[in-house]
Amino acid sequence: MTVFSRIAGTGSYLPAKVLTNRDLEGSVDTSDEWIYSRTGIRQRHVAAAHECASDLALMASRRALDAAGVGADALDLIILATTTPDMVFPSTACILQAKLGVKNCPAFDVQAVCSGFVYALTTADHFMRSGQYRNILVVGAEVYSRILDWEDRGTCVLFGDGAGAVVLQRSDKPGILATRLHADGSHAHILSVPGTVSGGKISGRPLLQMEGNAVFKFAVRVLGEVAEEVLAASGLAKDNIDWLIPHQANVRIIQATAKRLGLPMDKVITTVDLHANTSAASIPLALDVAVRDGRIRQGQHVLLEGVGGGFTWGAVAVIM
Ligand code: ACO
Repeated sequence: MTVFSRIAGTGSYLPAKVLTNRDLEGSVDTSDEWIYSRTGIRQRHVAAAHECASDLALMASRRALDAAGVGADALDLIILATTTPDMVFPSTACILQAKLGVKNCPAFDVQAVCSGFVYALTTADHFMRSGQYRNILVVGAEVYSRILDWEDRGTCVLFGDGAGAVVLQRSDKPGILATRLHADGSHAHILSVPGTVSGGKISGRPLLQMEGNAVFKFAVRVLGEVAEEVLAASGLAKDNIDWLIPHQANVRIIQATAKRLGLPMDKVITTVDLHANTSAASIPLALDVAVRDGRIRQGQHVLLEGVGGGFTWGAVAVIM
């Protein structure tokens, strides 16, 4: 029997504090009009000082487990995508496992920046297809507020904190139809946090730096290419797509991607206005919003696609 992965439940969590564009006008030389017209962002959520990626992940995971009707003790694998882990080690996935109060199942992090969730979901799907797993928790959780230069108006206005999660269940019907991943490390310099811990000190600058225009062009090109690639692999035509959920970085990148696919914007889920760019959390956050508000329904075809630092990119075609 062929084994498939089915998304059995979704969940998400946003920290309570909201930082609007107008709030940012008080700290950097910017304006709501500039940010909104260039990016589509109006506000972002920011974690409290005591909240780590694992705390946001825990809340999103509990909601996904509830939605799936699965207890944490039934999980046989946890994969967590983050670029802002709680610490160097243990992995945030292991910290999340302990916070969920369970033991023994394997747990590991995936580091693919804004493509992290697509990478994690693809990895989980391959584990599921091995036939050895029944319930896999896949999470994207980020506290980007910790790696931003809050005096750099070119970057600090773009990002937010949050988490999203899905429970994947073994099924004899799809589920996930096809997945495709890519990376090209030669573009590392256009988007990076070039710092690390070395000899008890921070070596290099541990804050996000970006060449915005280069990122924009790269993102539009590869999101278009990988969407076509995963559609071909899944046997779907563009007309079959009920919903597109692209990584939520900038509404202009999202619009350009939809246009290239010939999809009207009313088939595209966008949350970037309210969440800004939450990196690995952005796709599962948007998925959960649209499942809970009733737009995404069982049996519909959804295309998820991400692009991020590395550079990394990928897409997943799924029947809900
Ligand atoms: N408020 C006001 N002015 C600003 C701000 C700001 N927040 N940020 C930059 N500016 C100024 C610049 O200093 C520049 O001024 P100058 O002409 O006097 O030098 C001017 O605005 C134009 O700057 P550009 O960088 O050319 O602006 P652009 O129209 O390209 O928009 C943006 C910049 C929004 C970053 C755009 O390039 C973009 O969206 N790129 C994609 C980046 C992205 O989404 N990154 C997310 C991470 S990557 C990912 O998730 C895939």
